[in-house]
Amino acid sequence: MIKLFLYLLPLIISCNAIHPGPVVKATKGEVWPKPQVEEKTDEYYIVRPHGFNFKGPNNIGCPNFLNDAFTRYWTIIATSSSLERRGRLHEVGRKPKTEFWKDDSSYIGDLNGLDVQLRECSSEDVRPAFGDNENYTLNITKEGASLAADTIWGVLRGLETFSQLIYLEQDNLIINLTDISDFPRFSHRGLLLDTSRHFLPVYIILQTLDAMSYNKFNVFHWHITDDHSFPYKSRTFPELSDKGAFHPVSKVYEQSDVSKVIEYARLRGIRVIPEFDTPGHTSSWGAAHPELLTTCYTNDKPDEDLGPMDPTKNSTYDFLTKLFTEVVDVFPDSYFHIGGDEVDFYCWKHNPNITSFMEANKISTYEDLESYFIQHVVDLLDSLNSKYLVWEEVFVNGVTLPNSTLVHVWRDNGHETLNEVTKAGKYGIFSSCWYLDHLSSGGDWEKFYECEALDFPGTDEQKQLVLGGEACMWSEAVNEYNIMPRVWPRASAVAEKLWSAEDVNDTAAAKGRLEEHTCRMNNRGIAAQPPNGPGVCL
Ligand SMILES: *[C@@H]1O[C@H](CO)[C@@H](O)[C@H](O)[C@H]1NC(C)=O
Ligand SMILES: *[C@@H]1O[C@H](CO)[C@@H](O)[C@H](O)[C@H]1NC(C)=O
Ligand SMILES: *[C@@H]1O[C@H](CO)[C@@H](O)[C@H](O)[C@H]1NC(C)=O
Ligand SMILES: *[C@@H]1O[C@H](CO)[C@@H](O)[C@H](O)[C@H]1NC(C)=O
Ligand SMILES: *[C@@H]1O[C@H](CO)[C@@H](O)[C@H](O)[C@H]1NC(C)=O
Ligand SMILES: *[C@@H]1O[C@H](CO)[C@@H](O)[C@H](O)[C@H]1NC(C)=O
Ligand SMILES: *[C@@H]1O[C@H](CO)[C@@H](O)[C@H](O)[C@H]1NC(C)=O
Repeated sequence: MIKLFLYLLPLIISCNAIHPGPVVKATKGEVWPKPQVEEKTDEYYIVRPHGFNFKGPNNIGCPNFLNDAFTRYWTIIATSSSLERRGRLHEVGRKPKTEFWKDDSSYIGDLNGLDVQLRECSSEDVRPAFGDNENYTLNITKEGASLAADTIWGVLRGLETFSQLIYLEQDNLIINLTDISDFPRFSHRGLLLDTSRHFLPVYIILQTLDAMSYNKFNVFHWHITDDHSFPYKSRTFPELSDKGAFHPVSKVYEQSDVSKVIEYARLRGIRVIPEFDTPGHTSSWGAAHPELLTTCYTNDKPDEDLGPMDPTKNSTYDFLTKLFTEVVDVFPDSYFHIGGDEVDFYCWKHNPNITSFMEANKISTYEDLESYFIQHVVDLLDSLNSKYLVWEEVFVNGVTLPNSTLVHVWRDNGHETLNEVTKAGKYGIFSSCWYLDHLSSGGDWEKFYECEALDFPGTDEQKQLVLGGEACMWSEAVNEYNIMPRVWPRASAVAEKLWSAEDVNDTAAAKGRLEEHTCRMNNRGIAAQPPNGPGVCL
């Protein structure tokens, strides 16, 4: 009933006739996110996967890494020719395909390969890191096709673009003559998944990493623990997940699962940044270690509840030192997200030990008490040589942070906060208007697309301190069965905001490309939902 009403609404208001066919027509061979500089002509090659090869340089330090990427993209291209689908069409009596290119003056010939020039690659174990050079150029000319990049990361981005330029035309794969020179606008382009409110099996995380690579995201922010479950199986404290996970065996990430995720991400040029949120959002830690949390009081008596971590006990910090020493060792990225958001002060306020601790240490507000806690965690990570991200509250509450800290801005008024953060000389990561768990009806990717991170009145120097952003998928209402369509292609809107030039901001112009990109993801096995109302993927 509601749906019917929504579709009728434009009719009632503007008396538009409803036409048969898709509401938004998909483009053909357009790239998402849009390259910085791109020129195309209507001349084209045909790509026949079995007569097509990637050709890499001989003398570089990571031939296996490169070959792995070539195999992946060869498979993607071969599969998009839908040989299987064509077979089925023939079965139902479709006419044999026409050789439409035969008398077409725009047809150049068959493209037999892509020549890949990679300036250097240090070793097979090279890892993506903050600030990597992801630039590449890609030219499809009458002389052939070539891709050049300084780093393996640029090659990966360029291969993705190459695969997207190829499209299906009357059962043949074609690619237009094209010159692309491309680079990301921001270096930190992230997607957050929350694996605590609902457990997400490893296969979903791997699929997500695939989809991220199709959108040139380069940071997987793994919000791995929270109040509701502790699925990370620690080497040092296995009891945390034995007691704090939804199930001690089937709903945990073993060390081998974590390594698998990190390696899968690495091969796609994606960093994995773990978040172990403290001092709030830690109820699940209390299942095995209640002493870490603050006892809540009602009417001056301890009650059954436990609040945020107890910041007054040295044993809390000793515990975190042991756990975070492990985590920093397990996750190779040089950044760690220490959380620090939404601390509920209720239990701190009513616990007499906390009150006497605050008096003894001349701490007068609960914000300052939180800062006292975070300062310990920050000092701990400094001692482990790890850099960190913090949620914005940590900055707002005045914790002393080194300038290398990334302040993750997420609340409403995020633009004002970014202004404050960058005015103080700190780096900013933006998420305020990119919460994928905030649903509205229809094509709500548009509201993400229409939000610009740098839309605040700061100086150019300040804006340079904004390093990127993240789309966030909090999992109160998603599990393995619905998360893929909720995230995709809505996160694709954010991907384009973070990669493409600032003036790529016209929603109407993006629709057709997003329609194509969604179908492309579907063809690659990603359960992306339709972005633009009635339509079809062909
Ligand atoms: C690509 O080539 C086809 C076939 O000639 C042509 O119809 C199409 O307009 C070209 N695309 C662009 C963006 O130039
Ligand atoms: C990538 O290309 C852009 C635009 O040409 C340039 O400003 C930037 O310096 C390049 N990055 C690197 C690391 O070469
Ligand atoms: C593509 O063409 C541009 C401009 O002519 C050139 O600068 C670049 O090196 C070329 N890239 C490759 C891979 O040939
Ligand atoms: C906690 O650590 C601080 C600083 O190292 C020290 O001064 C204090 O005595 C310790 N408290 C207890 C109860 O051990
Ligand atoms: C309060 O502190 C006392 C003395 O250190 C300790 O024995 C007691 O267990 C603490 N109570 C709580 C609820 O932490
Ligand atoms: C951090 O940034 C602020 C503001 O730009 C600057 O005044 C300060 O010197 C910087 N601190 C360090 C240690 O570089
Ligand atoms: C889009 O970008 C252009 C160029 O930067 C700018 O003039 C325009 O105001 C932007 N439009 C929107 C809707 O933000």
